[in-house]
Amino acid sequence: MTATLIDGKAFAAKVRAQVAEHVTRLKTDHAITPGLAVVLVGEDPASQVYVRSKRKMTTEVGMKSVEHRLDAETAEADLLALIDTLNTDPEIHGILVQLPLPKHLNEDLVINAIDPAKDVDGFHISNVGLLGTGQKSMVPCTPLGCLMMLREHHGSISGLDAVVIGRSNIVGKPMAQLLLNDSATVTIAHSRTKELADVVRRADIVVAAVGRPQMVPGDWIKPGATVIDVGINRLDAPEKGEGKTRLVGDVDFDSCAAVAGAITPVPGGVGPMTIACLLANTVTACCRANGLPEPEGLTA
Ligand code: GUN
Repeated sequence: MTATLIDGKAFAAKVRAQVAEHVTRLKTDHAITPGLAVVLVGEDPASQVYVRSKRKMTTEVGMKSVEHRLDAETAEADLLALIDTLNTDPEIHGILVQLPLPKHLNEDLVINAIDPAKDVDGFHISNVGLLGTGQKSMVPCTPLGCLMMLREHHGSISGLDAVVIGRSNIVGKPMAQLLLNDSATVTIAHSRTKELADVVRRADIVVAAVGRPQMVPGDWIKPGATVIDVGINRLDAPEKGEGKTRLVGDVDFDSCAAVAGAITPVPGGVGPMTIACLLANTVTACCRANGLPEPEGLTA
């Protein structure tokens, strides 16, 4: 391997320490405790794992953590009523409704019912519009984490060629927007992109966010490029024992690491940054709600 490893786990710990420092200051200087409410509807096992981990980290940085677990059959009106209550609760500064929602619930309607100032996921249509026009907004956590790692590694990414593979509303599109706002030259590639290998080969920065295990091979990577792997895919790993699995990203790590200048591993790359950025967004939302200066380095 020749690439520098971008250690998301260590970086996320640094971000959480910064958040914890701000939380302490808010408590001691202003008697304010930032509060995050997480709403989980149904019993999706992956969502339960995420929510548990979010709760643990929220408490660890000294914030108030509130969890609402609702039955899978919850009526839309009841979920909207809960969001309304959280919107007006002065002790809650961030609201996250865990996705995916059960099929009978309209995800867009639910997300857009959250007060945009408390939308720590950055999914509300107002925040999407603000980000798209380069204005102050709440920024989706995963792309924010990727941006922080890129800024840390490169200093400035101005003028660099960036290719984002994947066009989801949660990662691909906001990632492209953030790179553009930092003056990179941005291409969004997706399943219909022609000559994908050639498109990726032009990039100084590759962000892979497609959800297809190891789909980007090393010979697509320009020598010295920075590779950010957003994918978290579980593969069978019979070599580790019966029924065992291992996590892999959207890039083929070994071959990409042999060519790239820097690369994020899976696990331990983008993943830990996502929750760290959720905490950062909650502190930012809390400062904004109270007319206090925002923490530096924790926003886009
Ligand atoms: N489910 C998977 N990732 C996310 C996320 O970033 N936010 C929410 N709300 N749900 C998710």
